[in-house]
Amino acid sequence: MLETLKSLQQEVQAIRPSSAEELESFRLKYLSRKGIIPSLFDELKQLPSEQKKEVGKPLNELKQYAEGKLKEWTAQLAERAGQGEAPADLTLPPVPNTLGSLHPLTLTRYKIIEIFERLGFSVADGPEIEDDWHNFSALNFPENHPAREMQDTFFIEKSPDVLLRTHTSNVQIRLMEKQRPPLRAIMPGRVYRNEAISARAHCFFHQVEGLYVDRNVGFADLKQTLYHFSREMFGKDTKIRLRPSFFPFTEPSAEIDVSCFICHGKGCNICKHSGWVEIAGSGMVHPNVLRHVNIDPEEFTGFAFGMGIERVTMLRYGINDLRLFSENDVRFLRQFKAVF
Ligand code: DAH
Repeated sequence: MLETLKSLQQEVQAIRPSSAEELESFRLKYLSRKGIIPSLFDELKQLPSEQKKEVGKPLNELKQYAEGKLKEWTAQLAERAGQGEAPADLTLPPVPNTLGSLHPLTLTRYKIIEIFERLGFSVADGPEIEDDWHNFSALNFPENHPAREMQDTFFIEKSPDVLLRTHTSNVQIRLMEKQRPPLRAIMPGRVYRNEAISARAHCFFHQVEGLYVDRNVGFADLKQTLYHFSREMFGKDTKIRLRPSFFPFTEPSAEIDVSCFICHGKGCNICKHSGWVEIAGSGMVHPNVLRHVNIDPEEFTGFAFGMGIERVTMLRYGINDLRLFSENDVRFLRQFKAVF
């Protein structure tokens, strides 16, 4: 009997009820009328009187201990409940899980990539911190040539050869240095210009460059590719128009306009009432550029183009201020939930 009391004492000590249910089953098991402790008192009555003395004291102690614990735990649980951990209301609507959305420029970039990938173009990447050769000289902008004037950028005084690229055309050179034709790639990325920031100009923006070099690539391929692209991007009834232009790295060069898909040529604010909007520069890769990367211009020809991603995005969504793209205002950004 003494042994039993000892182990019961240990058992009760080890119990830590954490809920009202556990506390109640503790009470039932040890202290209720049919519980272990009262039944030990019944047994006690049967014992001879010397043993009664011996066992009576520790049994009473056990009972007091258990009752004390019961009181203490009851108070503790009541206090915890009072601290207001209200039971969960499963009928309440869920806390909204605010997913972010893709940036509008990302949506446009994805769409452009998707269209050109279907035409067999791969996607290439190049550095934003560039040297003079890849950004200018290899692209047939000789030093001190006035064409450099249009693309002022940020230089480092101590290393005048290092600059922030002014266009994605540098990746044309990097790609042709590494790979031989046939070459078909588009090259999206960020570019920089030293320009005063306004609704229409920024010190950085994004372009997608395109390059196709192979035997017998002609101007008709350029035109057809960009026509196909424009119809996929802006709608099946889109028309394109090529205007003669100048870029040092293409000959001949052309500016690509698409028919205004807002007013369908009737004239509106977006197209400044001309019915056309400019989306890219383009042309046939200049033989000097091919020579700079050891590709024989007698054997290979190619076309190239460079498109402004901001431009296309502003047209797509009717956005009229370039600064909105980089201000990180969620009221602007969260409007572009649409999956491309
Ligand atoms: N790099 C030119 C610019 O930023 C755009 C451009 C024009 C790219 C003609 C081309 C091209 O590849 O063929 O103004």
